[in-house]
Amino acid sequence: MNSPQETPFDILVLAAGLGTRMRSGKAKVLHQLDGRPLIAHVCRTAASIKPRRIYVVVGHQADKVEAAVQAELGQDQATFVTQSRQLGTGDAVMSAGEVLRDAGSTLLILSGDVPLIRADTLRLLLERHHELQNVATILSVRMENPTGYGRIVRDDDSRVVKIAEEKDATDDEKQIREINSGIYCFETDRLFPALTRVQPVNQQGEYYLTDVPEILLNDGDRVDAYLHGNVREVAGINTRAELAEFENLQRRSTIRRLMIDGGVTFIDPSHAYISSEAEIGRDSVIYPGVQIEGKTIIGENCELRAGTRITNSQIGDNVLIKDHCVIVDSQVGANCSVGPFAHLRMNSVLEDAAAVGNFVELKKSRLGRGSKSMHLTYLGDATIGEKTNIGAGTVTCNYDGKHKHQTIIEDNVKIGSDTMLVAPVRVGSRSVTGAGSVVTRDVPPDSLVAGVPAVVKKRLDERKDENEA
Ligand code: UD1
Ligand code: CA
Repeated sequence: MNSPQETPFDILVLAAGLGTRMRSGKAKVLHQLDGRPLIAHVCRTAASIKPRRIYVVVGHQADKVEAAVQAELGQDQATFVTQSRQLGTGDAVMSAGEVLRDAGSTLLILSGDVPLIRADTLRLLLERHHELQNVATILSVRMENPTGYGRIVRDDDSRVVKIAEEKDATDDEKQIREINSGIYCFETDRLFPALTRVQPVNQQGEYYLTDVPEILLNDGDRVDAYLHGNVREVAGINTRAELAEFENLQRRSTIRRLMIDGGVTFIDPSHAYISSEAEIGRDSVIYPGVQIEGKTIIGENCELRAGTRITNSQIGDNVLIKDHCVIVDSQVGANCSVGPFAHLRMNSVLEDAAAVGNFVELKKSRLGRGSKSMHLTYLGDATIGEKTNIGAGTVTCNYDGKHKHQTIIEDNVKIGSDTMLVAPVRVGSRSVTGAGSVVTRDVPPDSLVAGVPAVVKKRLDERKDENEA
């Protein structure tokens, strides 16, 4: 049930830490899962439950973390607060004190390194928090192997007493399977005063946010843990091994969904890499080593051969993409054939039934309906009409060292092998260039040009008249 959350609340995402256990020069929350930084996953879910405002605590590599959040949510959709030194999760929340202390509202705290948390779970936590009129509600789960997590310590009446961090826990506490997910609801008017009383007296010498529940309980405030059933959803990522495990799980569930609900064939499901945002039409066949990234859409009845990578692109129905192609930010119409070893990038477009073959690269170029470029060719900043054939070894010389220039090739043209098209240049409809031509000037329609530089050798409309005669 997606019951609307009546009581307003804010969200605070903790993302200032380095993540030492990643052994990385890059902040942990910037490491990617399913093609997006961890922090982007958390922020997308946060935004989806419509808080009053999202606050993100940044510190380590703040610029990059802020950029990642903005790339996900859009400019000005989050407020950043800086934690200048990473003194612990309690200190991280404290650094948002100035902006949140007087907010007089419920604060939902999320961890930047817990990326799989679902919106429904957060809604349930908020509901529970308000229903029971708690001052603090901790989202907890029971884990087979709780090592590394803070444990929820309960008394004989199973009331929450405190959270014991792994490094500070007694042997008895270490036996506890119920763990702190690092996700909580707090009433801000009680949270911030309690935080000022947290002391860094523990094994790590840090200010623990997890000391707050005990402080509140001692003050007689209502604190509870909401035990949630889905363990995977709240698993935190602390090491690269955990990151790889998550990636694997995510990928397997995406591929399973595509096979079972989507009617897509995977020759070897364990060796395909498909973004969870991608769509693939039914009866398409995916060979091993195919990578589909971002918001790619693939039509029905397509065949994607081994080693191909497609990123943020649209592919029509009945398309054959042979082995080892790279297609980025581009569109391929229906009934096209691509590759092997072809590269389409920067808004290139193949119209329906077009074909590009071995070692052909298109950049910001459009190949018209039914046109072909089958071998060893570079088409950059080029617009090519319908039913045109581009011979082997053709190059659009689009760059003069300072600027890029356009090449236009109209319909029914035959570009001879090894033609150099020195842009800006236009080749008129039905014209032909001889093998090895260097075309430096516009070619009128119905002409045969050849040579270096290419000159008109013949008017083809005459020949056509001859043929017809
Ligand atoms: C924390 C909890 C633990 C819980 C676990 C769940 C504490 C003390 N422990 O442990 O009880 O089981 O999460 O995943 O809170 N961060 C900052 N500034 C800091 C330190 C951390 O912004 O000074 C951020 C990190 O970037 C991270 C999050 O807070 O996104 C959690 O920090 P982390 O060091 O991973 O805490 P855990 O040891 O996993
Ligand atoms: Ca963590």
